[in-house]
Amino acid sequence: MIYLDNGATSFHKPPSVAQAVRWALDNCANPGRGGHSGAMLAAKTVFGCREQAAEFFECQPEQVVFTPNCTQGLNIAIHSLIKPGSRVAISGFEHNAVTRPLYARGVQTVVAGRKLFDQEDTLSHFEDALKSGVSAAVFTHCSNVFGYILPVEEMAALCRNYGVPFIVDAAQSAGVLPVSLKDWGADFVAMPGHKGLLGPQGTGILLCSGETKPLLQGGTGSSSKQQQMPQELPDRLEAGTLNVPGIAGLHAGLKYLKKTGIDRIFSREKQAAQFCADGLKKLGYQVFSGENQGGTVSFVGKEDCEEIGEKLAGRGIAVRAGLHCAPLAHESAGTLQTGTVRVSFGHDASRQQAVEFLQSLKSIR
Ligand code: ALA
Repeated sequence: MIYLDNGATSFHKPPSVAQAVRWALDNCANPGRGGHSGAMLAAKTVFGCREQAAEFFECQPEQVVFTPNCTQGLNIAIHSLIKPGSRVAISGFEHNAVTRPLYARGVQTVVAGRKLFDQEDTLSHFEDALKSGVSAAVFTHCSNVFGYILPVEEMAALCRNYGVPFIVDAAQSAGVLPVSLKDWGADFVAMPGHKGLLGPQGTGILLCSGETKPLLQGGTGSSSKQQQMPQELPDRLEAGTLNVPGIAGLHAGLKYLKKTGIDRIFSREKQAAQFCADGLKKLGYQVFSGENQGGTVSFVGKEDCEEIGEKLAGRGIAVRAGLHCAPLAHESAGTLQTGTVRVSFGHDASRQQAVEFLQSLKSIR
């Protein structure tokens, strides 16, 4: 299979990831729940990943909270930071993992910047939104549909200047672009463990520097006599048994990234995506591509998007078609009615993958 659906999850992970999962299943018990060797090894395994993530994302290990996915991290962050009924700035490219929790809280969103690949437009609308008086901001680092990389450093600086607390959704950027809790000064940064970080599904990370409000209450293996959740992180946000095999696999993914270099992975993905976009244009498709784009390209043809996706799947090419759980991004790009076919490259991106994809597309027309 030519796997070009890395925006949904990375597949074909480095072999060390599965090996680490297997090792944890065979060796680890429940971390922080006992002094026996299985529990101690589990605690060491979890802490090892926490330390590695802290180094990667420039924060302290206790600011790294493990979650089952990015969505849960975003929900915790929104629950902690955003008051029901308040006014919040978001970009025009947010995923339902941001917009639905905001909607559920009756938040009034100010959608700032809707022009694809236009960082100046994003910045000027974002600044206007901050000036208009919002209590917080939530924005994605990179659009899951179009691969548009938002000017997150500048947006973070604007938030700091206007004293607006903010959350960054790094679902599509972690493991590909630099993400720094320290440099950005964000209150929260949420990310999946199973996409660019190459860990197993069921893993995620929430980096925290703001005040936190748990979404879940339960056992933490600490402060057990008291009925409130502990004040300290990460325990405060990690109720219940952690996904130790998943976290062991995530640690292996992080080690692989460190060894390979995320800049190398980014440039591989970007080159393959550009080659793909050029090929699609030659075939007559409407292609969404531009400056500030990562390894993801969306396109629309005369045929139904879902049908193109199905036909490609029949030829062993995995893409994702439709709305990609991001109706706001499609509305911004004018593709809410049609959806798009999305091609998203991963850590193993190559020109050959793009060539085979384009050949298959040609043959199904
Ligand atoms: N949010 C994921 C995607 O873009 C699942 O496909």
